[in-house]
Amino acid sequence: MTSVTKPETCTMVIFGAAGDLTKRLLVPALYNLAQTGLIPDEFSLVGVDIGEFTAEQWTESLHHMLRSFTHDVGSEDEISEVDAKSWSLLTQQVFYVQGDFTQEECFAKLGRTLTEIEGNRKGPANRLFYLAVADRFFASIVAGLGTAGLVRNEIDAWRRVIIEKPFGHDLESAKALNTAVLRSVTESQVYRIDHFLGKENVQNIMALRFANGLFEPLWNRDHIDHVQITVAETVGVEARGKFYEQTGALRDMVPNHVFQLVGMIAMEPPVGFSADAVRNKKFEVFSAIRPVRAADVVRAQYSAGSINGHACFSYRDESNVSKDSNIETYVALRLAIDNWRWAGVPFFIRTGKRMACRMTEIAIVFKRAPLTTFQDTPIATLPPSTLVLRIQPDEGVAHEFQVKRPGPTVDVSPVTMDFRYSDWFPPAPNVGYETLLFDCMMGDQTLFQRADMVEAAWRVVEPLLNDWSCEKTEIKKYEAGSEGPSAADVLIGGGDLGRNWRPVALNGAPRCL
Ligand code: BG6
Repeated sequence: MTSVTKPETCTMVIFGAAGDLTKRLLVPALYNLAQTGLIPDEFSLVGVDIGEFTAEQWTESLHHMLRSFTHDVGSEDEISEVDAKSWSLLTQQVFYVQGDFTQEECFAKLGRTLTEIEGNRKGPANRLFYLAVADRFFASIVAGLGTAGLVRNEIDAWRRVIIEKPFGHDLESAKALNTAVLRSVTESQVYRIDHFLGKENVQNIMALRFANGLFEPLWNRDHIDHVQITVAETVGVEARGKFYEQTGALRDMVPNHVFQLVGMIAMEPPVGFSADAVRNKKFEVFSAIRPVRAADVVRAQYSAGSINGHACFSYRDESNVSKDSNIETYVALRLAIDNWRWAGVPFFIRTGKRMACRMTEIAIVFKRAPLTTFQDTPIATLPPSTLVLRIQPDEGVAHEFQVKRPGPTVDVSPVTMDFRYSDWFPPAPNVGYETLLFDCMMGDQTLFQRADMVEAAWRVVEPLLNDWSCEKTEIKKYEAGSEGPSAADVLIGGGDLGRNWRPVALNGAPRCL
């Protein structure tokens, strides 16, 4: 157990103050931090956006959203209200700067507001800038902050910038963005966020691996047959058809979110838990992943179907999607990691929208027992021992293994030892951004991406993007509400090597509720 220190006095500036991310995730996360006593005692919040609001109107709109948000997450008989004390801690000083953040004038106005805030307040002039805007604005906002002198570290005050995803849409654009950003700030000021690292059971991977003597000796090619990572969603592209048509499942999920999971599972033990010690090890993993080609990938798009009895359109019938779109909403890949720990151990990855069930899990599938003792018994057909990390929902860790059934005959049966977070720890209000915002205020970059990590991840998928841009074949289809295309079964081995995808929907299993 460690005691937690509060962050120092600071001002948080949110670009995109009226946007969805601010209302649905950032403000609720800050409010949750306020509830647990983890925002600075002196905290100022500045919204920047193009709309004409007063600070009061902006605050009221945030409060309104938070009210509906707390109602949505509460059960019917336990609807929580916004706690007035936490809300007033969070909104003790709110400012709104109306401006077009492509224009210099906006930064001049923001500068005057910051000077006013810092002049009237004791404590250091720390500033946290959050870019909750479309990625096309990232470079120009950082440049605007730089030119206006707002982001220069002072001896007694830090200046930090959080940059949202997507960080580039291929290797070249990611490099260009890094170059642009690093013209105005140093790497130590940049916090490239990936919200998958805000998930509790993702952070737990390091504890599981390195705080237990049990797993690490088995965590290698001698004992592990393969690793499966599934990020399945039931949602479709919702109102994001336009964005998705430019992006697709690979760019949206793989070199960012899914690679974070691969990094946590595959990294070598760091020499310590400093940000760079950990990030160096993840960078080494990304650098060791063999560049992916089309032959190692299944790419598909959802057709019409139904999920939990609700009819779903096909992707091509979603709004702002072209009727002959070839964009993938599902992708499955076989990754090879060329190092001593993982050579010959494939990492199978799949992610898709409109699948049977919402489930993110990592399965470490161990090699089968040599079988000699049980060769005439059904054990030959039993599944291999598997360690399953459920990232969401129903966060936990399960070990699936074989036991002898009670009785006079030798009959072996699979069972599960299951750790569920909810059985052991009281639920804490969490939208997934709390730890990340807190870490940024504390200056801890461990859970944020470094420039070289982002580029290394894009480098892995770059050949695939090139292959796809030359591909003329019609994209494969899978029915909405299914487990994905059958071609993915062939990718994992079609059962020949005893490798099969784990079910996305398990009838009655808690994770599918
Ligand atoms: C986002 C993607 O980054 O992550 C979305 O753009 C996706 O398409 C989302 O739905 C998944 O995040 P989570 O936390 O809901 O699993």
